[in-house]
Amino acid sequence: MGPLSFGSSSAAIGLDIGTDHIRVAQMRPAGANFVLSAYAMVDVPMGAVVEGEIVAPESVSASIKELWRRSGVKGKDVSIGVSNQKVVVRLIDLPFMERAELEGAIQYQAQDYIPMAVEESILDFQIIGDYMTSSDEHMMEVLLVAAHREMIAAAVQAVEGAGLRLNEIDVSSFAVVRALMGGEAGFFPEEGDASSATGVIHVSSGITNITVVERGIPRFNRVSALAGNQFTHAIANVLNLTFDEAESLKVKVGLPDVEAASSQLPIDVDEQTAQVVQEALEREVNKFIAEIRRSLDYYLTQTSQARTIQRIILTGSGAQLKNLAGYLEKGLQAHVVLGDPLTRVQVPANLQPVVTADRMGCVTAIGLAMGGTGA
Ligand SMILES: Nc1ncnc2c1ncn2[C@@H]1O[C@H](COP(=O)(O)OP(=O)(O)OP(=O)(O)O)[C@@H](O)[C@H]1O
Ligand SMILES: [Mg+2]
Repeated sequence: MGPLSFGSSSAAIGLDIGTDHIRVAQMRPAGANFVLSAYAMVDVPMGAVVEGEIVAPESVSASIKELWRRSGVKGKDVSIGVSNQKVVVRLIDLPFMERAELEGAIQYQAQDYIPMAVEESILDFQIIGDYMTSSDEHMMEVLLVAAHREMIAAAVQAVEGAGLRLNEIDVSSFAVVRALMGGEAGFFPEEGDASSATGVIHVSSGITNITVVERGIPRFNRVSALAGNQFTHAIANVLNLTFDEAESLKVKVGLPDVEAASSQLPIDVDEQTAQVVQEALEREVNKFIAEIRRSLDYYLTQTSQARTIQRIILTGSGAQLKNLAGYLEKGLQAHVVLGDPLTRVQVPANLQPVVTADRMGCVTAIGLAMGGTGA
């Protein structure tokens, strides 16, 4: 926490630094809901963020400053999210101990569970619950988060270089879950039903976040580089186009409609090109589905509780790829719904156009701001 403590009426700022875009949302709590007071996004200079990791902090700082000029955000204390291959989330079972004791012990326990050196990592944890084994051992479930120290340092540098202060660093996927599901606890079908869990798939440009949530708590997270940029690259490669040309075709054409008898193609793309685009996208999406399947299956074999994942919530700008939801529904044999991060957010008229246009992309910034208010 910074020097300012956010009281219940204070506005909090969520800053989502992504591979393509930086987004900011400022909100204050209003009962069980939130009121948005600022929202904006800027493009990230090419190459400054790679697969969710900041590689050119100065350049990101300059973009953040630009974002502050444009957005009307008031304040300097921000909550950011991190999401890339250098943040890992693991659910681990340990013999029961008190929180204070675990704080000391986690350094020694963690190495068995994370792929990075503990000395090079920043660790955090959340105790999810405790239970007795059949042989009467008292155990607990701990959600361990490990983040590569230098990766975090680059994020801190980018934020401070823009003249801001860091209030909190969150795991981006936790912010996504908070925005989409935070208010739902209590009337979920799986609430109380220990055999079912929800998958949350957030597709953006550099990364896809695959998260499994049980009774409102994220219990598994995996970051994959199979995301929007990969889909665009596949089109660029097969048609020998620039990235921007391929991007435009991707958005226009999308995947074929799995249900429809005849496909509706955009009028300004010839049929042969559209078919090549769709074939390239289909190949990528099949890999994408296989990757998600592996993650979900892995989770189900690790956990003692959930046996099925019946519902998938899909979000992120990349979720707008035409017919992606239908492909996932078929490929994963689960009910796929598009997530809505705005169910608990009042958006004033002046912000409606920008927020509505970015309804799928705004979720992380919204969830980070919610977290900053203490929600
Ligand atoms: N209508 C659309 N159809 C298909 N893809 C789309 C559409 N709109 C946006 N996208 C894709 O969404 C991606 C951009 O997502 P977003 O701006 O959320 O990424 P980011 O937050 O900057 O990056 P990341 O979170 O991966 O670090 C791009 O790959 C873009 O092609
Ligand atoms: Mg993003």
